[in-house]
Amino acid sequence: MVVLGIESSCDETAAALVADDRRILADVIFAQIAEHTPYGGVVPEIAARAHLDHLDATIQACMDQAGLGFADLDGISVTGGPGLIGGVIVGVMMGKAIALAQNKPFIAVNHLEGHALTARLTDDAAFPYLLLLVSGGHCQLLVVEGVGRYRRLGATIDDAAGEAFDKAAKLMGLGFPGGPAVAAAADKATAPYRDLPRPMKGRPDCNFSFSGLKTALRQRVDALRADGHFDDATRANLAAGFQQAVVDCLIDRSARALEIAKTDYPDLSALVIAGGVAANKHLRERLQDIAGRHGVRLLAPPGRLCTDNAAMIAWAGIERFRMGERSGFDFAPRPRWPLDEQAPRLMGAGVKA
Ligand code: KG4
Ligand code: ZN
Repeated sequence: MVVLGIESSCDETAAALVADDRRILADVIFAQIAEHTPYGGVVPEIAARAHLDHLDATIQACMDQAGLGFADLDGISVTGGPGLIGGVIVGVMMGKAIALAQNKPFIAVNHLEGHALTARLTDDAAFPYLLLLVSGGHCQLLVVEGVGRYRRLGATIDDAAGEAFDKAAKLMGLGFPGGPAVAAAADKATAPYRDLPRPMKGRPDCNFSFSGLKTALRQRVDALRADGHFDDATRANLAAGFQQAVVDCLIDRSARALEIAKTDYPDLSALVIAGGVAANKHLRERLQDIAGRHGVRLLAPPGRLCTDNAAMIAWAGIERFRMGERSGFDFAPRPRWPLDEQAPRLMGAGVKA
């Protein structure tokens, strides 16, 4: 089975071809960084237009890379949500059009399920496993019990971790995207600020919060600027302090989730990490550490498959097609689409899907 995956829910226009024996036949990503850089963040309207401009060529490049025609496909899988709705609509319409014209099965999958099942594409991970999903739009800890069976142990009550990195970078004038910029600045630190807050640390639940940390950073930056002390060295020390604080929070919450998951699922196979923040090397090192302490493997897919991509969407489609599922052409794109639809909503404003 060969499936075409299409991803357009944020600022990556992507297409991939994946076979059900876990081979990635082609994987093309057009990152819209240049379009959004002048604004220091992703602008939804610009993203939607850019998907419209680039999706045709991205899919064609993907077919050419694999040397396949649409007639060779066994199905088309697209991100049906959650995400920036303009982009999702572009992808869903494209997927439906190809499926209709070529008379192929069509499925709309949850973008988060794409992230959640990536470790099965890369490492053949066995259920159940604990997933730390940390990106610009999402920050949650889930037990992946099976395809379509997700138990959320915790999520952010305000910002996602990647969003916190992006906002911190903007505040310190470090550029976009923020995560890599903060990490690079932090590498030059000589005396990291160690006194930034670690929100939610030690709490018995597995939720996250980053808005207090961001406010603390803003106050520090403002005070340093007012005193005329905000030079490159200070910026590096602040970036390192901020990175350490975020990583501390992610590690504390993940360790708590591992405790719960190991108790409830004695056959827990791994701690899996996904999302753009998973590229952070300090986070990876320290996750390795807590995974080892709890006697599970850490599975960290390669960076390209941790950030938004279409191979994970094709794979999620393969898992669903294998179960005999497909979507109708009346599928409506979903701006919000939690993985665990039965779970009660967390309290707090702006809870991420
Ligand atoms: O998964 P992704 O590509 O897109 C979303 O679905 O959000 O994640 C992008 C996020 C951005 O917020 C970016 O700043 C963050 O991942 N990121 C990092 C690093 N590389 C990317 N955060 C921390 N450290 C990094 N090295
Ligand atoms: Zn994502």
